[in-house]
Amino acid sequence: MTAFIVPLVVMNGFAVVIYALIMVLKTYVAAYGNCSLVVNGSRTFTVMGGTYLNKALFENKIYLPSACGGKGTCGFCKVRVTEGVSDPLPVEEILINYKDIRQGYRLSCQTKLRAGISIEIPEELLSIREYKGVVKSSNNVTRDIKRIGIRIDEPKEGLDFKSGQYLMFKVGEDETRAYSIASTERRADEVQIEVKLIPNGLGSSYLHSLTEGDELTFFGPYGQFYLRDTSHKVICVAGGVGLAPMKPIIFETLMKYPNRDVELYYGVRTFEDLYDHDLFIRLQANHPRFHYFPTLEQIGESAASAYPFTKGFVNKTLAENLTDGDRSEAYLCGPPLMINSSIQALLAKDVPEIRILYDKF
Ligand SMILES: Cc1cc2nc3c(=O)[nH]c(=O)nc-3n(C[C@H](O)[C@H](O)[C@H](O)COP(=O)(O)OP(=O)(O)OC[C@H]3O[C@@H](n4cnc5c(N)ncnc54)[C@H](O)[C@@H]3O)c2cc1C
Ligand code: FES
Repeated sequence: MTAFIVPLVVMNGFAVVIYALIMVLKTYVAAYGNCSLVVNGSRTFTVMGGTYLNKALFENKIYLPSACGGKGTCGFCKVRVTEGVSDPLPVEEILINYKDIRQGYRLSCQTKLRAGISIEIPEELLSIREYKGVVKSSNNVTRDIKRIGIRIDEPKEGLDFKSGQYLMFKVGEDETRAYSIASTERRADEVQIEVKLIPNGLGSSYLHSLTEGDELTFFGPYGQFYLRDTSHKVICVAGGVGLAPMKPIIFETLMKYPNRDVELYYGVRTFEDLYDHDLFIRLQANHPRFHYFPTLEQIGESAASAYPFTKGFVNKTLAENLTDGDRSEAYLCGPPLMINSSIQALLAKDVPEIRILYDKF
């Protein structure tokens, strides 16, 4: 009897091990083999099947934006799949509109390569580069916002950007976060960002923890939110740390366009949350084409004695002060509620919808 049972048990055990091995191989290796990835019809890469599209692109030095670390919640990594498109996932149907879904748009962080695939991405994303830098300075500008100066070490040519654009900072193993370029002085080898600390926030806590000499990796420059080359009056509307990208926009307009007026509508909760207030007061005194409208939700005694602030929300200040809306273009940056109410105020003042640009965060 034992003579039969032992080989049977051994054979069964062997079969289980083989089966388990096949399952592992099927899951991780053998199922897809190598796949071809064609980008914009001109670049072809061979990538290991089973890899997510965003990772495959990253490994080939194509850096798509991402504000959620590939969790499928930001929608930034959207690409158009022209060949090899798969059925949309529920999360894609939430983040991508129906028309785009039908045209093949998918989230690259949710797209696993199982066979050859062709995609289209905006041409400008092909010129996004990886940068290495070192923290040169880190200073509090309010109780929860830090201004971080970064010296760019690699590549040696430094960074070229359009006023209003942002960078993606590596803040964890597979995590990146977006931060607008806040530099008032345009230098290729240095850049400034302003970061508001979000309680338990991965990216903002990491950036706040950095001190002089710490190394940083970032990618960019990204974004369609940048100063347009027109003759329109520039209306900047900022909420809190949304002031960051306004500074390059304001300074470039004043320096480059002798006939364009600039108005800054800047809203924060209290006097303590306001920063660069003195800078804008000085700018207003020295530039007749610059007008500054700071707005506080709450005005305490110290604020009331410091400046004739408007009390309320920025949409109210816009409604009370904006003129020549039809000859203006607007740049908005800040929390979604502020942006939505300010857009309504701008439309009511005849600013054409097509000339209203915004970054919500
Ligand atoms: C184009 C763009 C430009 C940006 N520019 C800047 C900038 O210049 N300066 C800047 O400080 N931020 C900027 N942000 C926001 C930034 O990218 C991060 O989203 C922010 O710093 C929070 O990231 P975190 O990793 O610290 O928090 P996470 O770890 O991502 O989030 C932690 C928790 O906080 C919540 N949370 C996230 N954001 C907020 C918030 N604002 N208020 C309250 N709760 C929140 C999340 O829902 C989550 O529950 C920008 C975003 C975009 C899309
Ligand atoms: S949805 Fe955020 S990276 Fe893909």
